[in-house]
Amino acid sequence: IRDDAAAVGQYIGDYICKRINDFKPTPDRPFVLGLPTGSSPIPTYKRLIKLVKEGKLSFKHVVTFNMDEYVGLPEDHPESYHTFMFREFFSHIDIPPNQVNILNGNAKDLISECNSYEAKIASYGGIELFLGGIGEDGHIAFNEPGSSLSSRTRIKTLAYDTILANARFFDNDISKVPRMALTVGVKTVLDSKEVIVVVTGQRKALALSKAIEEGVNHLWTLSALQMHPWALIVVDEDATAEL
Ligand code: GLP
Repeated sequence: IRDDAAAVGQYIGDYICKRINDFKPTPDRPFVLGLPTGSSPIPTYKRLIKLVKEGKLSFKHVVTFNMDEYVGLPEDHPESYHTFMFREFFSHIDIPPNQVNILNGNAKDLISECNSYEAKIASYGGIELFLGGIGEDGHIAFNEPGSSLSSRTRIKTLAYDTILANARFFDNDISKVPRMALTVGVKTVLDSKEVIVVVTGQRKALALSKAIEEGVNHLWTLSALQMHPWALIVVDEDATAEL
């Protein structure tokens, strides 16, 4: 628990920096990092960008896989997760663009897009560290309530609560929010060697308490982390309101 969102971002940024710097990459085995979108990871991205600019961190031997992407939103739409990631992070660091992986929500064959994504993750020997955020309904990536805890990358219909929560990015007009997304599965996250989840703000307080104080269940998919051997949830004081 840290005081506020900025302190959470600083903590996670420094932690990821140390993990990457301690890792010994080889051509076959780069550091494989899973990444989220949303407002919660922005302070972490700011910290990582600062560390790169100060010469304390490099992403030259890092390969990234993003958690999710909307279906049907043009890649260059200001609210696509592709645009978000380049605007908030990738354009400011030294990662070669061919080491960035983001699901294509406009692929002709969405099922094969999801299957290839899983296969590509596997081809690197899995994800070393998955950073995630959660929705107000406790979803990790876009694993909405009711998702199977053994799910893999797939198409998911967004819950009405998620559409409402994300309308703020679409002129507060719910009709503009995409109804579907491609998302890594709960099992994809659980399979990574280490997971760190950032949870900030009081609107996430109920989800946090459900996920860590109640049993593992598919209605609050973050709760699946209780089964992970190396998971860390970093929160601000506001998010602890229901604990
Ligand atoms: C979306 C994303 C999630 C993210 C969530 C929270 O639903 N698919 O991966 O965790 O937003 O967003 P925020 O951090 O802005 O609350």
